[in-house]
Amino acid sequence: MSDNDGVTSPDAPDDRDCRDAPGVPGVRGVPGVPQALGAPGVPGVPEALGPTGPRPRLPSPLREAADERFARHGVRLLLKRDDLIHPELVGNKWRKLTPNLEAAAGRTVVTFGGAYSNHLRATAAAGRLLGLPTVGVIRGQELADRPLNPSLARCAADGMRLHFVDRSTYRRKAQPETLAAILRAVDAEDAYVVPEGGSNSPAVRGCQALGAELRDHGGVDVAAVACGTGGTLAGLAAGLAPGQRALGIPVLKGGFLGAGIEALQQAAFGARRGTWSLDDRFHCGGYARTTQELDAFAEDFEQRHGLPVERLYVAKMLYGLVALAAEGAFPRGTTVAAVITGAPFPDAGPGSQVASR
Ligand SMILES: Cc1ncc(COP(=O)(O)O)c(C=O)c1O
Repeated sequence: MSDNDGVTSPDAPDDRDCRDAPGVPGVRGVPGVPQALGAPGVPGVPEALGPTGPRPRLPSPLREAADERFARHGVRLLLKRDDLIHPELVGNKWRKLTPNLEAAAGRTVVTFGGAYSNHLRATAAAGRLLGLPTVGVIRGQELADRPLNPSLARCAADGMRLHFVDRSTYRRKAQPETLAAILRAVDAEDAYVVPEGGSNSPAVRGCQALGAELRDHGGVDVAAVACGTGGTLAGLAAGLAPGQRALGIPVLKGGFLGAGIEALQQAAFGARRGTWSLDDRFHCGGYARTTQELDAFAEDFEQRHGLPVERLYVAKMLYGLVALAAEGAFPRGTTVAAVITGAPFPDAGPGSQVASR
C-alpha cells in the first residue's frame, strides 16, 4: 500500500470527519451530484443535517483489510466504510436520501417500507434532524393493532407518522390512483414522495459520488455492493472510471434486477453507464433469509476485521466476495473494494432477520 493512495490501515483513528479529508477529485464535479453531499451552502439540506448534528464523513474511509482468504489468491481487499458517513443516515442512506431531502425543499416526505426497513428509520431520523415532517407507509395492515417493533418505534420516536396499509394496496403503491388515495389518507397531498428503498433518480445520482470517491483512491479494480433495488449499484457504476467495474450481489432471489438497474440508469443519466454485472448466487434463499453458514461467516468476519456486519445485505456481499476469491474469479493483482453500505440495527433483535427493505 502506498502512503498516498487514500487507503488507511484497519486500525487508523476513526475520528476524522469530512472537514479534514483530502479533496476527492471528481466528486464535486460529477454532474447531477448535489454539492449537498458534505458541502456547505446548499439550500434545503444543511451541511450537517441540522445545526447540532454530526457532519458527514465524506469521502468515507477506505480501509485495508488483511484477509488471507483473498491474499492467498493475490487479491487485495479494501473496505469502503460508508457505514461511517453518518451515525443516523448510515451508508447508502446518506447518499440516497440527501439529494431527495434537498428536492423535498421543506415539504412533507412520504415514503414506504416494511416493518424493519432501514430506509424508513433513516428517513425518520433525517426528518427529526431537519425539522421536516415525515410519513412512513408501512406494508401490513395487521401491524397497526400490534405494539410497534423496535424499528418502527424508533421511526415514531423520530416523529414519523406511521400509516399501515394492506399488502395488496402496498403492492399497487406506485399506481397513480393508489398513491393519490394514500396521500389523501395521510393528509399530505403536496408531499414529496420517495419510493420504497429510496431508489429514484436523485438517489442514483447521489450514489454516483460513491463511485467517484473510488475512482482516484486505492487503485480499486472492482467495487462490490449488495443490491436490493439496485439503486446504489446504478450510481456506483456510473461514478467509476473506465477500467474499473462494479459488481452487485443481489440479496433477493429472482434474477430480475438487471433490467431494473438499467431502467434506473436510463432515468438518472439517459443511458446505461459504467461497467457492471450481477452475481445472483449469494442471496442465501432470498430477502432476509439466512443460513447457518452465512451467520457463522458474518460472526467470523466481525471477529477478524472488527467490523459490525449488517446481516440482510452486507453479510451476503462479503460472503459472495470470499466465495468468488476462492473460485479464482479475480485475477491475481486485483484490488477489490467491498462497500459497507450499512450497520446492524442494534435494537432489532432476531426479528430483524425477517426484515423488509
Ligand atoms: C445496508 C444496505 N445495503 C444495501 C442496500 C441495497 O441498496 P439498493 O436498494 O440501492 O440496492 C440496502 C437497501 O437499501 C441496505 O439497507
